[in-house]
Amino acid sequence: MLLCICSTNDDSKIKNASKPVRLFTEEELQRYDGSEDGQPIYMAIKGVVFDVTAGKDFYGKGASYNALVGKDSTRAVAKMSLDPADLTHDTTGLTESQLQSLEQIFKGTYKAKYPIVGYTSRRVLKEDGSPNKDFKPEDQLNFNIKDEF
Ligand code: HEM
Repeated sequence: MLLCICSTNDDSKIKNASKPVRLFTEEELQRYDGSEDGQPIYMAIKGVVFDVTAGKDFYGKGASYNALVGKDSTRAVAKMSLDPADLTHDTTGLTESQLQSLEQIFKGTYKAKYPIVGYTSRRVLKEDGSPNKDFKPEDQLNFNIKDEF
């Protein structure tokens, strides 16, 4: 799914206005799981999709953290767990310290090191396609509210 926020006015003050923002369904994100050489590797945390190809030694085929890629691994990162049950966006029941750790890794590692390539569609729409009431455009790192709506 491609959500184009291309602006027709040439307003150079709007950062990234000419860049389309990509929304990834689960199936689409799964294609970037590092299994094919030469393909980019993507993973999502908190619904933000990062291009982690530069961290191929961590995330590539056969690497230690390969299980985290091609999906939203929020829970696994929060808990520092590679248990298959934790390879999910679901943060239900995480402790305060796990949530803090998640924030730290989200900002200190992912936002600091890797480019953002889009968002999971779950972040914007619920599974049944209805709007996600918790979605806040102002939280979106590359979105400009003026562009988006
Ligand atoms: C014995 C257990 C572990 C050891 C010794 C270990 C060690 C390390 C080290 C040394 C780094 C930093 C590498 C660098 O920046 O060059 C790292 C990064 C990381 N580790 Fe672990 N780790 C362990 C377990 C785990 C587990 C269970 C997870 C599960 C999510 C995890 C997730 C990560 C992540 C997400 C990074 C950041 C990778 C990046 O920079 O893209 N680690 N780990």
